[in-house]
Amino acid sequence: MPETLANKIAAGEVVQRPASALKELIENALDAGADAIDVVLKKAGSELIQVIDNGCGMGPADAVACFQRHATSKITSIEDLERIRTLGFRGEALASIAAVAQVELRTRRVEDEAGTCVRIHGGTLVDTQPCAAPGGTSLAVRNLFFNVPARRNFLKTPATEFRHLVETFQFLALSNPDVGFTLTHDDNEVYRLTPSRAAAGHEALRHRILELFGESYRDALVPVEETTSYLSVYGFVGTPEFHRKSRGEQFLFVNRRYVKNRYLEHAVASGFGDMLPEGAFPFFTLFLDLDPRHVDVNVHPTKAEVKFDDERGIYGFIKAVVKKALGTADLTPRFEAGPEGRSFAATLHTGGTPASSAPPAPEPRRPAGASSPVPSFPDSPFRVGPGRGGSRDDGRGWQMSLGTSAGSPARLTGIPAGTLSGRLYGDTPTPLAAPTEATDGPPEAAEGPDVQGVPSVMNQVGRQEWEGP
Ligand SMILES: Nc1ncnc2c1ncn2[C@@H]1O[C@H](COP(=O)(O)OP(=O)(O)O)[C@@H](O)[C@H]1O
Ligand SMILES: [Mg+2]
Repeated sequence: MPETLANKIAAGEVVQRPASALKELIENALDAGADAIDVVLKKAGSELIQVIDNGCGMGPADAVACFQRHATSKITSIEDLERIRTLGFRGEALASIAAVAQVELRTRRVEDEAGTCVRIHGGTLVDTQPCAAPGGTSLAVRNLFFNVPARRNFLKTPATEFRHLVETFQFLALSNPDVGFTLTHDDNEVYRLTPSRAAAGHEALRHRILELFGESYRDALVPVEETTSYLSVYGFVGTPEFHRKSRGEQFLFVNRRYVKNRYLEHAVASGFGDMLPEGAFPFFTLFLDLDPRHVDVNVHPTKAEVKFDDERGIYGFIKAVVKKALGTADLTPRFEAGPEGRSFAATLHTGGTPASSAPPAPEPRRPAGASSPVPSFPDSPFRVGPGRGGSRDDGRGWQMSLGTSAGSPARLTGIPAGTLSGRLYGDTPTPLAAPTEATDGPPEAAEGPDVQGVPSVMNQVGRQEWEGP
């Protein structure tokens, strides 16, 4: 089978829609150590998805090699898989994206005089030549799926695809508050996120949440933090009155990877007890960290799924931790507009009115369990301790990486990116588990701004159908 065909087939796994390509490109920028990342989109990603970073860049050889399948500078042995800290490692993303789009790479290592420009159309190298380029990498993906009409026809409306793009941008921005990001769509600046000045932890994350979702969140964020020898939870939940009618603003990260897990989303909600009305979804941004041996996040190339070896224990832990956090917080009702009625002006430059009409904010309630003790699990490792800070190292030789300001995973462990050409994969590394059926997260919601904070942007995208290629 010709390599271009193999890549085109693999692309079906890795690149399901514009948002999956965007995720791969931003993750590469983060792995490259960038602390400023610009995202440029046109026509909800169908015309252009471009990511510009100030990371390590690539030399001329790597600039071509990176489009080969299983070209990765990030792991060299099966043992590396056990302690993977970078976001990428399969070396399939660029090959797959380039197989189904028109890709232009411009990249330069700071130490190099000249940069390299490489163009690949539908998996075929068009040209490569020296060029002027700032230090770092720009990858422009044009006309995604231009040569896979079936796939292109499978795209949802521009509004839906844009919503997925924004969600992807949001979760990567949330998990990297020390990185500056911009998002521009059809020449409108949607977000300009500054790197947090706060050294670490909750302050940095709060800063990023407010940038993304608006100032009205300032008083609605309840910090959560609990560490046991088995796992730690860290982040914020929204106050009960800050709930919403759809699931849009629930961000769960496991070992810094964004995951979808209905079971654990339910655990968070159950921690609210009867403070939440029926059918309401709380805001949360929570980071779970645990020994990678207890969790499998690699069951699927898009890595959005996660399996734990003790899911029930983790459920109980999360529920208890959330309940405790809400019990400790001052939840005095405030006479402010709820999330549905809040102003988006703080984060959006595009004006317009929110697409959804604002239902009346529900009656805020005092937390029912405010004074009750937090349940603990005497016989399990998931005991919820009396306050913040537990042991972060139980002596088994691994350190939990709480906090979000330590930099991208690449920087955490000092894994140098780059130097790809010398270490190309000869053989296909065996995946840890057979890829499961393609999952696309929750079933597609009705057309509506369920990524909150961007309704006016959604209006801008409109409800029109795709134009022909
Ligand atoms: N933005 C970037 N900056 C520097 N190097 C990059 C960038 N994007 C990709 N690369 C290089 O190209 C290789 C292949 O990328 P990719 O196909 O996403 O595979 P993976 O991230 O799994 O290694 C990476 O391992 C890295 O060496
Ligand atoms: Mg990658």
